[in-house]
Amino acid sequence: MNFCSDNATGASPEVLEALIRANEGHTMPYGNDPLTKKVESKISDLFETNATVFLVATGTAANSLALSAMTPPWGAVFCHPKSHIQVDECGAPEFFSGGAKLISLDDVGGKISTESLKVAEQHIIKGDVHHVLPSAISLTQASEAGTVYPNDTVREISDWAHAHDITVHMDGARFANAIVSLGCSPAEATWKSGVDILSFGGSKNGCMAAEAVVIFNPDMAENFAFRRKRAGHLFSKMRFISSQFDAYLTDDLWLKNATHANAMAKILAEGLRDIEGAEFQTPVDANEIFVKLPEAVISGLYADGFEFYRWDEPKAGRVIRLVTAFNTNADHVDAFIESAKKAA
Ligand SMILES: Cc1ncc(COP(=O)(O)O)c(C=O)c1O
Repeated sequence: MNFCSDNATGASPEVLEALIRANEGHTMPYGNDPLTKKVESKISDLFETNATVFLVATGTAANSLALSAMTPPWGAVFCHPKSHIQVDECGAPEFFSGGAKLISLDDVGGKISTESLKVAEQHIIKGDVHHVLPSAISLTQASEAGTVYPNDTVREISDWAHAHDITVHMDGARFANAIVSLGCSPAEATWKSGVDILSFGGSKNGCMAAEAVVIFNPDMAENFAFRRKRAGHLFSKMRFISSQFDAYLTDDLWLKNATHANAMAKILAEGLRDIEGAEFQTPVDANEIFVKLPEAVISGLYADGFEFYRWDEPKAGRVIRLVTAFNTNADHVDAFIESAKKAA
């Protein structure tokens, strides 16, 4: 009955079976095996374009390496103040970019507010050695607050960015949940809306440890192989990363998994709406819920054995985060609602 994180889950059986199959026999190392080649083109086909794909094992590596290809060391990356790159990656984006600065923009519902782009413009001072050069903007889709950018907002931000020689990164650790929520194609949500590089997550949604850097802008693919190797993410036995993605993308497993996770979040949120004093902090667009509940309800839920985090600073308040996943048990969702109602 764990609603702490979609990282608290295991992997989909299909992914584990693919790993076992990939274990058969010998094959060439360092991504020179047929399965890796197949997966790279499978991802490119999924996005209906000629993308360059690099598999890595963590979202932090995907994000940091992507950003390192988008900004010089004296550059800057605009981002959300609570983005994973800003608060949860231990300075990896700064490290891999050689010291580029992360500049937070204003929040609206867990997303970068388009209003704040005006403020961002004040940071764009070109050719002055005393100032960093804004070079990229990073959007998280779905956001850390469980909300989703509509494609036309991504387009608006991208148009603004490109007009200022700024490239667009999308942290898609929960890209599948966003696609299910948007009901559009992966292409529409990314390069057709102006995204230059996507960190395409797999680990939270059924893979064991697999993420893909999907580069739509060919200029940024140059030398990326060297970046990945230097970061220690060129796996000698790459087939074990590729096989996960192969299964993830077969028969739309990635979409089925995210559909279940999002549906569980919707049911959970609807059930909690009846609790007196429940205050939702953001709309529930994907698989995360942020809701303020009476203390008695929170204590009752903990006493009944449910696991989840208190989320507001200093993490002792009454806002909790609930995360559903591809394998969330519907009975646990019902039991959670019942327990909350009982305590209320
Ligand atoms: C929005 C977001 N981006 C990226 C990541 C990837 O992180 P990790 O390096 O732990 O795989 C996470 C994981 O929590 C995340 O929530």
